[in-house]
Formats: sequence, C-alpha cells, structure tokens
Amino acid sequence: MHVLVLGGTTEARCLAELLVEVLPAGVGLTSSLAGRVSGPRLPPGEVRIGGFGGADGLADWLRTHQVDALIDATHPFAGTISFNAAAAAAAAHVPLLAVRRPGWVPGEGDDWHAAGSLAEAAAALPALGRRVFLTTGRMGLAAFAGLDELWFLMRSVDAPQAPCPARMEVLLDRGPFTLDGERELIRRHRIDVVVTKDSGGAATAPKLTAAREAGIPVVVVRRPPVPEGIPVVEGPEPAVDWLREHILHRTQPTAGPAQTSG
Ligand SMILES: NC(=O)c1ccc[n+]([C@@H]2O[C@H](COP(=O)([O-])OP(=O)(O)OC[C@H]3O[C@@H](n4cnc5c(N)ncnc54)[C@H](OP(=O)(O)O)[C@@H]3O)[C@@H](O)[C@H]2O)c1
Repeated sequence: MHVLVLGGTTEARCLAELLVEVLPAGVGLTSSLAGRVSGPRLPPGEVRIGGFGGADGLADWLRTHQVDALIDATHPFAGTISFNAAAAAAAAHVPLLAVRRPGWVPGEGDDWHAAGSLAEAAAALPALGRRVFLTTGRMGLAAFAGLDELWFLMRSVDAPQAPCPARMEVLLDRGPFTLDGERELIRRHRIDVVVTKDSGGAATAPKLTAAREAGIPVVVVRRPPVPEGIPVVEGPEPAVDWLREHILHRTQPTAGPAQTSG
C-alpha cells in the first residue's frame, strides 16, 4: 500500500509526522513538494520534489507508484494542483481527500475588505491607504505593479522577480510570525493598509490582530473553491481517521513504523 500526500504546508508536514507513526508496516508514504521555495522544511518519509506534468502526469504517477490513497494537503490558494489532483484521482480510481485549514473570520474592530483576486485587491488599495504591507507572497506581484503612487513592504520567503511595484521594500522572512513582530513592522514602516490571502491558520494570523490594534484596513483575498465532490477535513488528525476508514482497514492491524516508498 502507498499513500501520497501533496504538500507544501504546515498541515502536510504534520500529517506526514503523524502517518510515519500510525501507518502499519509495509504501507509506503510519499510527500510531494512543488519545489517553489529554496530550503523547504522536509517532512519525514519519502519526499519527491517538482511538478508531475499536469493532471495526466499525476495520474500516471499514481498508477506507476501504485498509490492507494491521495491526500491533497496543499495550500488553500494552490488551486491548480488541487484541480489536477481531483482529475488524476478520478482517472486513476484513487480515493482523494482534501485537507484545508479553516479560513479566518473577522472579529470586532476589524476593518476587512474582501477581494476575489489579487487584481481586485490591487484595485481596492488606492482608496484605502498609501503604505501597504503586502503579504500575499512573491507570486502574483504583477497585479500590484502599476500602483506607482503607493509604497509597499513586501514579505516573502524568497526574493521576488519583476514585474513588481516600483516603490517596494522586500522583507525576506518565513512564518510563524509573532504579534510583537507584526506590531513593530506596522509601526516602523507607518503601514496604513495590509493585504493578505485568506490563508487561515495561526502561523500568519498575528498581522490581523496587529492591524486591528492599529485601526488600519485589511484587504483579504478570498480562497479559490475546493473541486466539487471531494471530501474535505480541516487538519491532519481527521485525515488520519479518513485513511483508517477508507484504506487502512484493508491492511492487517500490525503494529510498527511505516516504511517509505518512492
Ligand atoms: N499559493 C500559495 O499561496 C502557497 C502558499 C504557501 C505554500 N504553497 C505551496 O506551494 C506549492 C505551489 O503553490 P502554487 O500556488 O504555485 O500551486 P498551483 O498553482 O496550484 O500549482 C502549480 C503547479 O505546481 C505544481 N505543484 C503544486 N503543488 C505541488 C506539489 N505539492 N507537488 C508537486 N507539484 C506541485 C504542479 O505542477 P504540474 O502541473 O507539473 O504537476 C501544479 O500544476 C503548493 O504545493 C502549495 O502547497 C502555496
């Protein structure tokens, strides 16, 4: 038996950590990363890095590596791979589960402005502020490139490439971030508006609290939908339950650590 986890998130790494403990001996585990960031935090078990070559390539990989269950634990905004996973799982007749952390919910005192896309977020900015804390990552920066009258503090794991906003300072950093740190960034750079994807999770949420405290607006980009008909759970533990229910009952209840498989 073989389980493939599509990763690149904290949840995917936590799931792999759980699975190496609970998968019976003889059940292989592979985590897949896109290879977007330099020096990624690797999960335990076998890891492969790089694209599959679209839905057809992923379906081939599932068949060739005799995958019995596919878990899409990619980022809520990684829409392409999720749709590829749905198509590939259907083509290769492999059960698929999506793991999606819950989105953020505004609280009292929040001034949030929903946007359907990065382009919509960019269009909303000039009416909201002049000094922008941009936390949507280095991909898709082109959407903000025409906003010459605004200044950007752009935070990402790796350095961005053009096209970028003309007036931009880059801050290379990787979460989790602290509330004190986010407060200090907003104060020091005189930020008057924040832009974020609705990524959810605790690791990058302190900027939302810091923005509320500072009384500044936040533009929140809505998530793309999960492909229709795919079961969704919110975290690693229910994903393990799903595996037990759908797949692992087919194995002998032997105790012991998981073996890796490529
Ligand atoms: N988008 C974000 O905001 C964000 C934030 C944090 C982390 N991430 C992580 O970064 C990765 C790339 O994100 P993205 O937004 O560029 O994804 P995407 O637009 O959905 O995917 C673009 C292509 O990258 C490849 N790919 C994506 N995830 C992969 C994975 N786990 N394993 C192997 N190939 C993968 C696939 O290439 P092929 O078609 O060749 O198979 C896919 O078609 C994802 O794994 C995601 O979990 C994304």
